Amino acid sequence: MVAIREIGESAFDEQAFMALLKDSVDSGASIGFLAPLAAEEGREFWRAVLSELADGRILLGAYVEGKLVGSVQLAPVAKPNARHRAEVQKLMVLQASRGRGVAKALMAAIERKAAELGRWLLVLDTVPRQPAEMLYERLGYVRAGVVPDYAESSSGGFDPTVIFYKRLA
Ligand SMILES: CC(C)(COP(=O)(O)OP(=O)(O)OC[C@H]1O[C@@H](n2cnc3c(N)ncnc32)[C@H](O)[C@@H]1OP(=O)(O)O)[C@@H](O)C(=O)NCCC(=O)NCCS
Repeated sequence: MVAIREIGESAFDEQAFMALLKDSVDSGASIGFLAPLAAEEGREFWRAVLSELADGRILLGAYVEGKLVGSVQLAPVAKPNARHRAEVQKLMVLQASRGRGVAKALMAAIERKAAELGRWLLVLDTVPRQPAEMLYERLGYVRAGVVPDYAESSSGGFDPTVIFYKRLA
């Protein structure tokens, strides 16, 4: 049974979140880093995330038997004309915990949170032909288009990204 919790600075377990990020990056996920993840890059990333919680960023953790197995973030857009919009970022699940509905539970929770905050238009992007693309399509995200050569790939060259959006009911 997976439990989803919103994480504030006091509940943040740096070691567990570092291990989660490293597991995803080193498995080839395109989430902003090149493999192998350098510890300092990971620490800097999580420090920045924590510092943005005060500005409205939402960090959710997924726990199975008390262990962190997944995470996702919501970044509400701060622009005055975009108070209805937010970006879903950095969905990741430990390799050993994949295929059991953890990502689905995280996405359901982040959508509930977005709706509570009045953010009814969600946008996100991901590398095509990866599990995440199937997941977002299954959850009703609409494909807006593909940007070629969007991000450097850990395996060399550049990967495209596919942009999705979803209007919450
Ligand atoms: C994408 C990711 C988060 C999915 O996590 P997960 O917990 O395994 O996903 P779930 O078990 O909740 O699966 C939900 C749905 O996603 C799709 N899906 C998940 N893994 C899949 C796979 N390997 N192949 C095809 N579809 C897959 C399925 O539609 C599945 O629904 P179903 O089981 O009812 O068919 C996980 O693979 C991951 O962390 N990848 C690396 C990080 C990454 O790429 N993040 C996306 C950044 S935008």
